[in-house]
Amino acid sequence: MKIIKTIAAVKKETRKLKGKTFGFVPTMGCLHQGHLSLMEQSLRENDVTVVSIFVNPTQFAPNEDLDSYPRDLKKDEKSLKELGVDILFFPDVKEIYPGGYSTYVQVEELYKVLCGKSRPTHFRGVTTVVLKLFNIVAPDNAYFGSKDAQQAVIIKKMALDLNLDVTIKALPIVRDTDGLALSSRNTYLSGPQREAALCLPKALRKAEELIAAGLEDAAQIKTEIVKELQQSKLVEIDYVEIVSLNSLKTYERSEGTMDIDVNNTLVAAAVKLGKTRLIDNFILGEI
Ligand code: PAJ
Repeated sequence: MKIIKTIAAVKKETRKLKGKTFGFVPTMGCLHQGHLSLMEQSLRENDVTVVSIFVNPTQFAPNEDLDSYPRDLKKDEKSLKELGVDILFFPDVKEIYPGGYSTYVQVEELYKVLCGKSRPTHFRGVTTVVLKLFNIVAPDNAYFGSKDAQQAVIIKKMALDLNLDVTIKALPIVRDTDGLALSSRNTYLSGPQREAALCLPKALRKAEELIAAGLEDAAQIKTEIVKELQQSKLVEIDYVEIVSLNSLKTYERSEGTMDIDVNNTLVAAAVKLGKTRLIDNFILGEI
């Protein structure tokens, strides 16, 4: 595996392999099986797989966990080598954002909802860095997790709106054996918090079962999820939202009930356990 720190060297390396298909998996490191599942798919579908590890400062607000975000490069390097990844791009912050950097990309509307309500500058940082990485790596295919469903929807829209020559693929959520979605931020949780966090996948699974049994009213589905999340005293609800998958618009109730589209819906929730914010969701349809 080649480990590359500069943009010029990635461009040189990838241009040398012109004619081959490139798969790309952008990450912020501290890799777990959720990340690795994206790389495995890329390795299956492309001649060359490039992974980036870059804890992107522009997607963290000043009050968020940029400095304490978990980092473990040695372990990550080992996982990537074992997997057979071809190139690891591991730039410094100055390489991506040199002094005087001033260009940002924002996908209107979609950035404001769901996680964007409590993190209003987050998706602007994500789209900016992902577009930069796409320009540097020039991949044919790029792989994202449905764990961050809003992120995948937004990046797909950016690629469409800006005519990018990259196919965006959104892959399923990888979970721990007890159901908790894998996340680098799970390392922040204390024992009791880790236990309490299970109410998140449990609440969503219950909603999924109710929908499978015929419940389609958005308000009722939301109520069931909230009820389940309120079981734990350690859990503070940030949001529970049921939205149309590609527009991320809520099923607003005008009069009477509002049924969900069972082929195009995202049911998403975010909770806080102490200072740690966790997200989870399920999707009816395809991003
Ligand atoms: P990060 O949180 O490191 O995640 C990298 C990729 O792994 C994302 O596409 C994310 O959705 C996916 N992922 C994380 N947990 C997963 C799980 N349990 N199952 C499946 N996929 C999972 O997301 C980011 O980094 C950043 O915002 C980034 C896109 C790299 C831009 O900075």
